[in-house]
Amino acid sequence: MMSKIASLSDIEKLAFQKLDKNALDYYASGAQDEITHYDNKKAFDRYQIRPRFLRDVSKVDMSTEIFGEKFSSPIFVAASAMQKMAHPIGEVGSARSACKHGVCYSLSTVSTTSLEEVSESVQSLVAEGHKSVRWFQLYVYKEKEKTIALIRRAEKAGFTAILITVDTPFTGRRLANIRNAFKMPTHLKLANFEAEEDGNSEKEECGNDDSTWPPKLVAGQLDPGLSWEDIKWIKSQTHLPVLVKGILTHEDAKIALDSGMDGIVVSNHGGRQLDSVSATIDALAEVVSGCENKIPVLMDGGVMRGTDVFKAIALGAKAVFVGRPVLWSLAHDGENGVDLMLDILSEEFRMAMALSGCTSIKDINRNYIQLSPKYYT
Ligand code: FNR
Repeated sequence: MMSKIASLSDIEKLAFQKLDKNALDYYASGAQDEITHYDNKKAFDRYQIRPRFLRDVSKVDMSTEIFGEKFSSPIFVAASAMQKMAHPIGEVGSARSACKHGVCYSLSTVSTTSLEEVSESVQSLVAEGHKSVRWFQLYVYKEKEKTIALIRRAEKAGFTAILITVDTPFTGRRLANIRNAFKMPTHLKLANFEAEEDGNSEKEECGNDDSTWPPKLVAGQLDPGLSWEDIKWIKSQTHLPVLVKGILTHEDAKIALDSGMDGIVVSNHGGRQLDSVSATIDALAEVVSGCENKIPVLMDGGVMRGTDVFKAIALGAKAVFVGRPVLWSLAHDGENGVDLMLDILSEEFRMAMALSGCTSIKDINRNYIQLSPKYYT
Protein backbone atom coordinates (compact mmCIF):
# COMPACT_ATOMS: atom_id res chain seq x y z
CA MET A 1 0.00 0.00 0.00
CA MET A 2 1.36 3.39 -1.04
CA SER A 3 1.70 5.85 1.86
CA LYS A 4 1.18 9.11 -0.03
CA ILE A 5 0.58 9.82 -3.68
CA ALA A 6 3.37 12.00 -5.05
CA SER A 7 3.18 11.73 -8.83
CA LEU A 8 0.97 10.83 -11.77
CA SER A 9 2.81 7.49 -11.99
CA ASP A 10 1.65 6.73 -8.45
CA ILE A 11 -1.95 7.35 -9.50
CA GLU A 12 -1.44 5.19 -12.59
CA LYS A 13 -0.18 2.29 -10.46
CA LEU A 14 -3.25 2.49 -8.20
CA ALA A 15 -5.60 2.59 -11.18
CA PHE A 16 -3.96 -0.47 -12.69
CA GLN A 17 -4.82 -2.36 -9.49
CA LYS A 18 -8.44 -1.21 -9.59
CA LEU A 19 -9.66 -1.44 -13.18
CA ASP A 20 -10.93 -4.67 -14.68
CA LYS A 21 -9.02 -6.10 -17.63
CA ASN A 22 -11.56 -5.05 -20.24
CA ALA A 23 -11.45 -1.36 -19.25
CA LEU A 24 -7.77 -1.29 -18.34
CA ASP A 25 -6.69 -2.72 -21.67
CA TYR A 26 -9.02 -0.38 -23.55
CA TYR A 27 -7.59 2.68 -21.80
CA ALA A 28 -3.94 1.62 -21.66
CA SER A 29 -3.37 0.13 -25.04
CA GLY A 30 -1.74 1.68 -28.06
CA ALA A 31 -1.94 0.40 -31.61
CA GLN A 32 -0.05 -2.67 -32.87
CA ASP A 33 3.36 -2.99 -31.16
CA GLU A 34 2.79 0.21 -29.16
CA ILE A 35 6.10 1.69 -30.35
CA THR A 36 4.64 5.18 -30.60
CA HIS A 37 2.62 4.80 -27.42
CA TYR A 38 5.76 4.16 -25.36
CA ASP A 39 7.90 6.59 -27.32
CA ASN A 40 5.51 9.45 -26.49
CA LYS A 41 6.71 9.19 -22.89
CA LYS A 42 10.33 8.23 -23.51
CA ALA A 43 10.84 11.04 -26.02
CA PHE A 44 10.49 13.69 -23.32
CA ASP A 45 13.64 12.28 -21.71
CA ARG A 46 15.62 13.00 -24.88
CA TYR A 47 15.31 16.73 -24.13
CA GLN A 48 17.14 18.58 -21.40
CA ILE A 49 16.19 21.82 -19.72
CA ARG A 50 18.75 24.67 -19.66
CA PRO A 51 17.91 26.49 -16.42
CA ARG A 52 18.81 30.08 -15.62
CA PHE A 53 19.39 31.24 -12.06
CA LEU A 54 19.30 34.29 -9.84
CA ARG A 55 16.15 35.76 -11.29
CA ASP A 56 13.56 36.49 -8.62
CA VAL A 57 11.22 33.48 -8.85
CA SER A 58 9.27 34.13 -5.68
CA LYS A 59 6.14 34.53 -7.84
CA VAL A 60 5.41 32.29 -10.81
CA ASP A 61 2.45 32.94 -13.12
CA MET A 62 1.38 29.85 -15.07
CA SER A 63 -1.59 31.50 -16.73
CA THR A 64 -2.02 31.55 -20.47
CA GLU A 65 -4.53 32.79 -23.03
CA ILE A 66 -5.99 31.12 -26.11
CA PHE A 67 -8.80 32.52 -28.30
CA GLY A 68 -9.21 35.35 -25.79
CA GLU A 69 -9.87 32.97 -22.88
CA LYS A 70 -7.56 33.07 -19.88
CA PHE A 71 -6.56 29.77 -18.28
CA SER A 72 -4.79 29.38 -14.95
CA SER A 73 -2.30 26.93 -16.45
CA PRO A 74 -1.58 25.37 -19.86
CA ILE A 75 -2.50 21.88 -18.59
CA PHE A 76 -5.76 20.87 -20.27
CA VAL A 77 -7.95 17.76 -20.13
CA ALA A 78 -7.91 15.66 -23.31
CA ALA A 79 -10.99 14.21 -24.96
CA SER A 80 -11.10 10.51 -24.25
CA ALA A 81 -13.94 8.10 -24.84
CA MET A 82 -16.15 6.28 -22.34
CA GLN A 83 -14.96 7.73 -19.05
CA LYS A 84 -17.69 6.03 -17.01
CA MET A 85 -15.80 2.76 -17.41
CA ALA A 86 -13.23 4.30 -15.05
CA HIS A 87 -15.70 5.58 -12.45
CA PRO A 88 -19.48 6.10 -12.35
CA ILE A 89 -19.03 9.90 -12.33
CA GLY A 90 -17.22 9.69 -15.67
CA GLU A 91 -16.98 12.85 -17.77
CA VAL A 92 -18.80 14.92 -15.13
CA GLY A 93 -15.92 14.35 -12.70
CA SER A 94 -13.23 15.36 -15.14
CA ALA A 95 -15.20 18.37 -16.46
CA ARG A 96 -15.87 19.68 -12.95
CA SER A 97 -12.27 19.20 -11.96
CA ALA A 98 -11.00 21.10 -15.03
CA CYS A 99 -13.47 23.89 -14.20
CA LYS A 100 -12.26 24.16 -10.58
CA HIS A 101 -8.67 24.33 -11.84
CA GLY A 102 -9.44 27.04 -14.40
CA VAL A 103 -8.26 24.91 -17.33
CA CYS A 104 -9.86 23.82 -20.56
CA TYR A 105 -11.92 20.63 -20.71
CA SER A 106 -12.41 18.76 -23.95
CA LEU A 107 -15.22 16.27 -24.38
CA SER A 108 -15.15 13.30 -26.73
CA THR A 109 -17.92 12.70 -29.25
CA VAL A 110 -18.05 9.14 -27.89
CA SER A 111 -18.55 10.07 -24.26
CA THR A 112 -20.68 8.19 -21.77
CA THR A 113 -22.21 11.51 -20.61
CA SER A 114 -23.99 13.73 -23.10
CA LEU A 115 -22.52 17.12 -23.92
CA GLU A 116 -25.61 18.78 -22.44
CA GLU A 117 -25.21 16.90 -19.13
CA VAL A 118 -21.52 17.84 -18.99
CA SER A 119 -22.43 21.51 -19.44
CA GLU A 120 -25.15 21.26 -16.82
CA SER A 121 -22.79 19.62 -14.34
CA VAL A 122 -20.44 22.62 -14.15
CA GLN A 123 -23.15 25.25 -13.71
CA SER A 124 -23.09 25.15 -9.90
CA LEU A 125 -19.33 25.78 -10.01
CA VAL A 126 -19.81 28.62 -12.47
CA ALA A 127 -22.38 30.11 -10.07
CA GLU A 128 -19.67 30.00 -7.37
CA GLY A 129 -17.39 32.07 -9.61
CA HIS A 130 -15.40 29.39 -11.44
CA LYS A 131 -14.98 29.68 -15.17
CA SER A 132 -15.66 26.67 -17.37
CA VAL A 133 -14.16 26.54 -20.84
CA ARG A 134 -15.29 23.48 -22.75
CA TRP A 135 -14.20 22.40 -26.21
CA PHE A 136 -15.99 19.68 -28.15
CA GLN A 137 -14.01 16.96 -29.92
CA LEU A 138 -15.76 16.06 -33.14
CA TYR A 139 -15.60 12.86 -35.12
CA VAL A 140 -16.88 13.56 -38.61
CA TYR A 141 -19.59 11.16 -39.66
CA LYS A 142 -20.47 10.01 -43.14
CA GLU A 143 -23.86 11.63 -42.69
CA LYS A 144 -23.27 15.37 -42.82
CA GLU A 145 -26.48 16.12 -40.91
CA LYS A 146 -25.29 14.02 -38.00
CA THR A 147 -22.02 15.95 -37.83
CA ILE A 148 -23.74 19.31 -38.06
CA ALA A 149 -26.29 18.29 -35.43
CA LEU A 150 -23.45 17.57 -32.99
CA ILE A 151 -21.88 20.98 -33.69
CA ARG A 152 -25.23 22.75 -33.14
CA ARG A 153 -25.72 20.94 -29.84
CA ALA A 154 -22.19 21.85 -28.74
CA GLU A 155 -22.76 25.51 -29.63
CA LYS A 156 -26.05 25.54 -27.76
CA ALA A 157 -24.52 23.87 -24.70
CA GLY A 158 -21.83 26.53 -24.41
CA PHE A 159 -18.81 24.75 -25.88
CA THR A 160 -16.47 27.38 -27.28
CA ALA A 161 -14.31 25.52 -29.80
CA ILE A 162 -14.47 22.43 -31.99
CA LEU A 163 -11.57 20.00 -32.14
CA ILE A 164 -11.85 17.89 -35.28
CA THR A 165 -9.93 14.65 -34.94
CA VAL A 166 -8.27 13.96 -38.27
CA ASP A 167 -6.14 10.91 -37.49
CA THR A 168 -9.01 8.41 -37.36
CA PRO A 169 -10.37 7.61 -40.84
CA PHE A 170 -10.40 4.07 -39.43
CA THR A 171 -9.94 2.97 -35.84
CA GLY A 172 -6.35 1.82 -35.21
CA ARG A 173 -5.62 -1.83 -34.48
CA ARG A 174 -5.34 -2.08 -30.71
CA LEU A 175 -4.41 -5.68 -30.25
CA ALA A 176 -5.52 -6.02 -26.64
CA ASN A 177 -9.03 -4.91 -27.61
CA ILE A 178 -9.14 -7.41 -30.43
CA ARG A 179 -7.91 -10.22 -28.18
CA ASN A 180 -10.31 -9.32 -25.36
CA ALA A 181 -13.19 -8.74 -27.80
CA PHE A 182 -13.55 -5.41 -25.99
CA LYS A 183 -17.04 -4.58 -24.82
CA MET A 184 -18.36 -1.38 -23.36
CA PRO A 185 -20.32 -2.53 -20.28
CA THR A 186 -23.99 -2.87 -21.20
CA HIS A 187 -25.20 -0.43 -18.49
CA LEU A 188 -23.29 2.41 -20.24
CA LYS A 189 -24.31 4.33 -23.32
CA LEU A 190 -22.64 6.51 -25.89
CA ALA A 191 -24.69 9.35 -24.51
CA ASN A 192 -24.44 11.81 -27.38
CA PHE A 193 -26.38 9.36 -29.51
CA GLU A 194 -28.95 8.23 -26.99
CA ALA A 195 -31.82 9.98 -28.78
CA GLU A 196 -31.13 7.94 -31.87
CA GLU A 197 -31.42 4.77 -29.89
CA ASP A 198 -34.59 5.43 -27.95
CA GLY A 199 -37.32 3.17 -29.23
CA ASN A 200 -35.36 2.81 -32.38
CA SER A 201 -35.51 -0.30 -34.43
CA GLU A 202 -32.10 0.63 -35.86
CA LYS A 203 -30.45 0.22 -32.49
CA GLU A 204 -28.08 -2.35 -33.87
CA GLU A 205 -27.22 -0.13 -36.80
CA CYS A 206 -26.35 3.03 -34.91
CA GLY A 207 -24.69 1.66 -32.04
CA ASN A 208 -25.67 0.73 -28.66
CA ASP A 209 -24.68 -2.60 -29.47
CA ASP A 210 -21.39 -0.74 -29.27
CA SER A 211 -20.51 -3.44 -26.89
CA THR A 212 -18.70 -4.71 -29.98
CA TRP A 213 -15.18 -3.62 -30.91
CA PRO A 214 -14.68 -1.24 -32.60
CA PRO A 215 -17.96 0.33 -31.53
CA LYS A 216 -20.15 0.80 -34.57
CA LEU A 217 -20.85 4.42 -33.71
CA VAL A 218 -17.14 5.11 -33.69
CA ALA A 219 -15.91 3.02 -36.52
CA GLY A 220 -18.66 2.08 -38.93
CA GLN A 221 -19.90 5.59 -39.46
CA LEU A 222 -16.70 7.62 -39.47
CA ASP A 223 -16.00 9.07 -42.86
CA PRO A 224 -12.75 7.66 -44.29
CA GLY A 225 -13.29 9.86 -47.35
CA LEU A 226 -12.72 13.00 -45.29
CA SER A 227 -10.55 15.66 -46.95
CA TRP A 228 -9.40 19.22 -46.26
CA GLU A 229 -12.34 20.42 -48.38
CA ASP A 230 -14.75 18.79 -45.90
CA ILE A 231 -12.91 20.33 -42.95
CA LYS A 232 -13.14 23.77 -44.57
CA TRP A 233 -16.85 23.17 -45.14
CA ILE A 234 -17.35 22.24 -41.48
CA LYS A 235 -15.50 25.38 -40.46
CA SER A 236 -17.84 27.43 -42.65
CA GLN A 237 -20.80 25.96 -40.73
CA THR A 238 -19.87 27.30 -37.30
CA HIS A 239 -18.84 30.55 -35.71
CA LEU A 240 -16.68 28.67 -33.20
CA PRO A 241 -12.90 28.37 -33.61
CA VAL A 242 -11.97 25.07 -35.24
CA LEU A 243 -8.79 23.18 -34.37
CA VAL A 244 -7.53 20.09 -36.16
CA LYS A 245 -6.36 17.38 -33.78
CA GLY A 246 -3.83 14.80 -34.93
CA ILE A 247 -1.36 16.78 -37.07
CA LEU A 248 2.24 15.52 -37.06
CA THR A 249 4.01 17.18 -40.02
CA HIS A 250 4.89 20.70 -41.13
CA GLU A 251 3.25 19.98 -44.50
CA ASP A 252 -0.16 19.36 -42.90
CA ALA A 253 0.37 22.27 -40.51
CA LYS A 254 0.81 24.58 -43.49
CA ILE A 255 -2.35 23.22 -45.13
CA ALA A 256 -4.25 23.71 -41.87
CA LEU A 257 -3.06 27.30 -41.76
CA ASP A 258 -3.90 27.92 -45.43
CA SER A 259 -7.31 26.29 -44.93
CA GLY A 260 -8.20 28.86 -42.31
CA MET A 261 -8.03 26.60 -39.26
CA ASP A 262 -7.86 28.41 -35.94
CA GLY A 263 -5.48 26.03 -34.22
CA ILE A 264 -3.69 22.70 -34.30
CA VAL A 265 -3.28 19.90 -31.80
CA VAL A 266 -0.13 17.87 -32.37
CA SER A 267 -1.30 14.40 -31.43
CA ASN A 268 -0.94 10.76 -32.38
CA HIS A 269 -4.07 9.83 -30.41
CA GLY A 270 -1.95 8.57 -27.53
CA GLY A 271 -0.28 6.08 -29.88
CA ARG A 272 -3.64 4.45 -30.60
CA GLN A 273 -3.86 5.06 -34.34
CA LEU A 274 -0.88 4.56 -36.69
CA ASP A 275 1.96 2.86 -34.85
CA SER A 276 5.55 3.94 -35.62
CA VAL A 277 4.76 7.62 -36.10
CA SER A 278 6.91 10.12 -34.23
CA ALA A 279 6.45 10.91 -30.58
CA THR A 280 4.46 14.12 -30.35
CA ILE A 281 7.19 16.08 -28.54
CA ASP A 282 9.48 15.27 -31.49
CA ALA A 283 6.89 16.45 -34.04
CA LEU A 284 6.00 19.63 -32.18
CA ALA A 285 8.73 21.98 -33.41
CA GLU A 286 8.17 21.12 -37.06
CA VAL A 287 4.42 21.68 -36.77
CA VAL A 288 5.01 25.03 -35.05
CA SER A 289 7.34 26.07 -37.88
CA GLY A 290 4.84 24.82 -40.49
CA CYS A 291 2.16 27.19 -39.30
CA GLU A 292 4.60 30.07 -38.96
CA ASN A 293 3.49 30.87 -35.43
CA LYS A 294 0.26 32.32 -36.81
CA ILE A 295 -2.18 30.02 -35.02
CA PRO A 296 -1.91 28.33 -31.63
CA VAL A 297 -0.37 24.87 -31.57
CA LEU A 298 -1.23 22.58 -28.66
CA MET A 299 -0.01 19.04 -28.07
CA ASP A 300 -0.78 15.82 -26.26
CA GLY A 301 0.81 12.42 -25.76
CA GLY A 302 2.80 11.05 -22.84
CA VAL A 303 2.62 14.13 -20.61
CA MET A 304 3.13 12.86 -17.05
CA ARG A 305 5.36 15.43 -15.36
CA GLY A 306 5.67 19.18 -14.93
CA THR A 307 8.98 19.08 -16.78
CA ASP A 308 7.16 17.48 -19.77
CA VAL A 309 4.78 20.45 -19.81
CA PHE A 310 7.74 22.83 -19.61
CA LYS A 311 9.51 21.10 -22.52
CA ALA A 312 6.38 21.26 -24.69
CA ILE A 313 5.91 24.97 -24.00
CA ALA A 314 9.63 25.57 -24.73
CA LEU A 315 9.20 23.85 -28.11
CA GLY A 316 6.29 26.09 -29.02
CA ALA A 317 3.11 24.56 -27.59
CA LYS A 318 0.55 26.99 -26.17
CA ALA A 319 -0.84 24.23 -23.93
CA VAL A 320 -0.79 20.48 -23.44
CA PHE A 321 -3.60 17.99 -22.92
CA VAL A 322 -3.43 15.01 -20.60
CA GLY A 323 -5.35 11.91 -21.66
CA ARG A 324 -4.74 8.67 -19.77
CA PRO A 325 -3.74 10.37 -16.49
CA VAL A 326 -7.32 11.65 -16.30
CA LEU A 327 -8.67 8.13 -16.71
CA TRP A 328 -6.30 6.74 -14.07
CA SER A 329 -7.33 9.53 -11.71
CA LEU A 330 -11.03 8.86 -12.23
CA ALA A 331 -10.44 5.18 -11.57
CA HIS A 332 -8.48 6.00 -8.43
CA ASP A 333 -10.96 8.40 -6.82
CA GLY A 334 -13.47 9.95 -9.23
CA GLU A 335 -13.56 13.75 -9.30
CA ASN A 336 -11.22 13.96 -6.27
CA GLY A 337 -8.73 11.84 -8.15
CA VAL A 338 -8.71 14.25 -11.10
CA ASP A 339 -8.37 17.17 -8.65
CA LEU A 340 -5.34 15.50 -7.11
CA MET A 341 -3.79 14.78 -10.50
CA LEU A 342 -4.22 18.37 -11.73
CA ASP A 343 -2.87 19.69 -8.40
CA ILE A 344 0.23 17.53 -8.67
CA LEU A 345 0.89 18.29 -12.33
CA SER A 346 0.42 22.02 -11.97
CA GLU A 347 2.60 22.09 -8.85
CA GLU A 348 5.30 20.20 -10.74
CA PHE A 349 5.02 22.65 -13.64
CA ARG A 350 5.20 25.63 -11.28
CA MET A 351 8.36 24.11 -9.79
CA ALA A 352 9.86 23.44 -13.25
CA MET A 353 9.28 27.10 -14.15
CA ALA A 354 10.73 28.44 -10.91
CA LEU A 355 13.79 26.18 -10.97
CA SER A 356 14.46 27.19 -14.59
CA GLY A 357 14.20 30.90 -13.85
CA CYS A 358 10.90 31.50 -15.66
CA THR A 359 8.16 33.50 -13.96
CA SER A 360 5.65 33.62 -16.79
CA ILE A 361 4.70 31.40 -19.73
CA LYS A 362 6.04 33.91 -22.22
CA ASP A 363 9.51 33.58 -20.65
CA ILE A 364 9.70 29.92 -21.71
CA ASN A 365 11.29 29.51 -25.14
CA ARG A 366 13.69 27.41 -27.19
CA ASN A 367 16.69 28.74 -25.24
CA TYR A 368 15.50 26.71 -22.28
CA ILE A 369 15.76 23.36 -24.00
CA GLN A 370 18.24 21.22 -25.88
CA LEU A 371 18.35 17.74 -27.27
CA SER A 372 20.44 15.64 -24.92
CA PRO A 373 23.98 15.47 -26.44
CA LYS A 374 23.75 11.69 -26.70
CA TYR A 375 21.05 12.12 -29.38
CA TYR A 376 23.03 14.52 -31.61
CA THR A 377 23.70 12.99 -35.02
C1 FNR B 1 -8.34 8.72 -26.54
N1 FNR B 1 -8.18 9.75 -27.44
C2 FNR B 1 -9.28 10.22 -28.14
N2 FNR B 1 -9.13 11.24 -29.02
C3 FNR B 1 -10.19 11.73 -29.70
O1 FNR B 1 -10.02 12.65 -30.49
N3 FNR B 1 -11.44 11.21 -29.46
C4 FNR B 1 -11.67 10.19 -28.61
O2 FNR B 1 -12.79 9.75 -28.41
C5 FNR B 1 -10.55 9.64 -27.93
N4 FNR B 1 -10.69 8.59 -27.09
C6 FNR B 1 -9.62 8.12 -26.39
C7 FNR B 1 -9.79 7.07 -25.49
C8 FNR B 1 -8.72 6.64 -24.73
C9 FNR B 1 -8.93 5.51 -23.77
C10 FNR B 1 -7.46 7.25 -24.86
C11 FNR B 1 -6.29 6.80 -24.02
C12 FNR B 1 -7.27 8.27 -25.76
C13 FNR B 1 -6.88 10.42 -27.60
C14 FNR B 1 -6.72 11.54 -26.58
O3 FNR B 1 -7.53 12.64 -26.92
C15 FNR B 1 -5.27 12.05 -26.54
O4 FNR B 1 -4.86 12.37 -27.84
C16 FNR B 1 -4.30 11.04 -25.93
O5 FNR B 1 -4.91 10.32 -24.88
C17 FNR B 1 -3.06 11.76 -25.39
O6 FNR B 1 -2.12 10.84 -24.94
P1 FNR B 1 -1.93 10.42 -23.38
O7 FNR B 1 -2.02 11.69 -22.56
O8 FNR B 1 -3.03 9.46 -23.10
O9 FNR B 1 -0.59 9.80 -23.39
